[in-house]
Amino acid sequence: MSSRPRILSSLTRKLKPERLSVDTMSEDVLLVNDILVEGSSPEGGVISVWTLNRPSKLNALNTESHELLRDACSRAEADDNIRVVVIRGAAPLPAPEGKRPKPAAFAAGADISEFAGKSSDEVLPFFENNAWERVWNLTKPTIAMVDGFALGGGAELALSCDLRVASTRAKFGTPEINLGLIPGGGGTQRLCRLLGYGKALEMVMTGEMVDAETALQNGLVNAVATPDELEATTMALAENIAKKSPYTIKVAKRAVRAALDLPFSEGVLAERSEFVALFDTEDKEIGVSAFLERKSANWVGR
Ligand code: COA
Repeated sequence: MSSRPRILSSLTRKLKPERLSVDTMSEDVLLVNDILVEGSSPEGGVISVWTLNRPSKLNALNTESHELLRDACSRAEADDNIRVVVIRGAAPLPAPEGKRPKPAAFAAGADISEFAGKSSDEVLPFFENNAWERVWNLTKPTIAMVDGFALGGGAELALSCDLRVASTRAKFGTPEINLGLIPGGGGTQRLCRLLGYGKALEMVMTGEMVDAETALQNGLVNAVATPDELEATTMALAENIAKKSPYTIKVAKRAVRAALDLPFSEGVLAERSEFVALFDTEDKEIGVSAFLERKSANWVGR
């Protein structure tokens, strides 16, 4: 086991236009930047931005990417200041002379070079302890900011997030079928929930890519922006959520998530029970009083 810190680059900056510049010389496969949200309450709220950083391989997710994503999830869950997680891919590096530039990518899949020659026994431990489920199981809100390709395991990582904001040049797909495989990071199930059975099966069986406009129409993404505006659009969404009560946001996520697992009538009861319990929180009293007094709410997070 290496002795270097598992979170390889963590710094806190204020939310400013140049806020997400990334150290393009870094060889760390996951960069973590915590961006302070001004005016958040309780104070100190940050948006934690995780950058998949293997641009020469279109940010394909290798074993180390999974390890670092899992570590970042543990940290995000433990750190009360982290209100929202944004995951994105590093931008392509400038092309060497005479070579064509690499395309933009969120992540072009699991790293296919790690699949060759592996048996089911060899891959099982990795797939049982993967980052897709860790991201999915975070109790805090997560947003995938997708510029370029989100394919295979990359699409599944975006699907493991709660919300997706895509650039106009984003392309989503599950091309595993062309490798003699199927999605293995929860993609079949999450696509089905998001798009419905027919569209999910079409993507999985054809391996064809879906462009941003189609993704917006069929509910695969929440918003589309030009590549230039992608960051601002995503961060505005993240900031909006980061300024709500962090306690109530967790309850909201849990209540909506319950719809995926519970029969409808049980889900309605689960929601009612969450709603009623919120009447014992300080933040409900703070939110209601702030509305009545025409002030902004200063949440305490409980
Ligand atoms: N795993 C490992 N390496 C990958 C990768 C992946 N999933 N996707 C892309 N790469 C690497 C390529 O091997 C290439 O590396 P090299 O420059 O060292 O040869 C580099 O990323 C750039 O990719 P390239 O294929 O040259 O770019 P392109 O513009 O011609 O095509 C794609 C882009 C996305 C269409 C193509 O890379 C692709 O089909 N990737 C695989 C997608 C996939 O099947 N994902 C599911 C995996 S489970």
